Formats: sequence, C-alpha cells, structure tokens
Amino acid sequence: MIIAEEDKENPELIGYLLLHKKDDDVWHIHTLNVLDSYRKKGIGSKLVEKAIQHVKNRKGNTILVQSDILAHGFWRKKGFEKKGKYYVLRL
Ligand SMILES: CC(C)(COP(=O)(O)OP(=O)(O)OC[C@H]1O[C@@H](n2cnc3c(N)ncnc32)[C@H](O)[C@@H]1OP(=O)(O)O)[C@@H](O)C(=O)NCCC(=O)NCCS
Repeated sequence: MIIAEEDKENPELIGYLLLHKKDDDVWHIHTLNVLDSYRKKGIGSKLVEKAIQHVKNRKGNTILVQSDILAHGFWRKKGFEKKGKYYVLRL
C-alpha cells in the first residue's frame, strides 16, 4: 500500500511511503521519500507513524526496512534497530 502526504495549502505530493505485507506478522517498508524542501519538518515521521498504525491495526508485529546508508540516524530515532541488512521495529 502507499501512504502519501500532500501540502494542504499548495496541493502537491510532498512525501510517500510504500508498505508491503511479507507474511502474517511481518511488513516491509520499501520506500520512504520526502521532497527535499519539506525535509526535517516531521513529514517522514508522520508517514512512518501512519505505517506503524496500519500494521498494528492488522495485527502485524514486525516492520523491516532495508535502510539507505544516509538514513540510518532517522530509522534509529524512529525506534528501529539494525539487524543485518535491515532496520527492524518490533511492535
Ligand atoms: C529520510 C527522510 C525520509 C526523513 O524525512 P523527514 O521528513 O526529513 O524526517 P523528520 O522531519 O520526520 O525527522 C525525524 C527525526 O529524524 C532526523 N533525521 C531526518 N533525516 C535524517 C537523516 N537522513 N539522518 C539522520 N537523522 C535524520 C530529524 O532531524 C528528526 O530528528 P529530531 O526528532 O531529533 O528532530 C528524508 O530525508 C528523505 O526522503 N531522504 C531521502 C530518501 C531516503 O533516504 N529514504 C529512506 C531510505 S529507506
């Protein structure tokens, strides 16, 4: 599924997250991207929080993300832990 954020005053897509169910308990974030000029304003966090809520509502217990090297600090701040090639959040 795709979770998207738009700028309410100037409607355009400013961020999106692609979430995929791997099996009954495990979900995978494939892509998370926020438009350059909207970064560091909480949009990425909002998208991740919506993804977490979506997974919780469907009784999932794990979210994996294969993190881009530049975003390691972001995933750690969101509570993900590095396990091999993934960042993992246990719900
Ligand atoms: C990574 C990305 C999604 C973050 O989005 P954002 O809207 O800027 O994130 P937020 O504003 O919600 O930031 C939340 C916290 O993470 C920090 N943070 C954001 N990007 C970071 C980064 N690349 N590295 C380290 N910390 C980062 C913020 O400073 C903020 O910290 P704070 O809570 O102490 O203030 C965005 O920079 C992006 O689209 N990057 C390019 C694509 C990418 O790397 N995607 C992830 C690959 S899977």
